[in-house]
Amino acid sequence: MTQYENQQLNEADKELIQKALQATETSYAPYSKFHVGAAVRMTDGQVFTGSNQENIAFPACVCAERVALLYAVTHSNAAPATLAVTATDRDGWVSEPVTPCGECRQVLLEMQRRFGTPVRILMAGKTATLVCENAEELLPGAFQSTQLAQS
Ligand code: THU
Repeated sequence: MTQYENQQLNEADKELIQKALQATETSYAPYSKFHVGAAVRMTDGQVFTGSNQENIAFPACVCAERVALLYAVTHSNAAPATLAVTATDRDGWVSEPVTPCGECRQVLLEMQRRFGTPVRILMAGKTATLVCENAEELLPGAFQSTQLAQS
């Protein structure tokens, strides 16, 4: 995982981060006031976005990354190739990179294993972005049961 200044990123990555930033506008976050947006570029180039959707029953809240990823794979036969995530709060675009929660890491990893294609993850803030080239890196030692697969 490497941290870059945003201006060091290539144009495709900058564009995906802008789409994630735009997606924060559809966030529903009346409880945390933390508006997260995610954008997924598929292997065929198509881009899907999502945002966090909260609920008064807190465990029912869904993160932006999962909204975007699950929407993407239900509307495309291509594989997720790069996911960008970022957020805004009451002060605007957050300066620190936004990193996915454990549950989203588990979903990202299974997407990668399911499609056999590495998923790059761009964790963006206003000034700096953490870039991870492979979802395995975000969840070392993830749950994996070959016995479960055989039953
Ligand atoms: N959240 C996301 O959508 N993605 C992340 O990577 C971090 C957390 C959401 C969940 C909740 O709606 C709010 O941000 C505060 O935790």
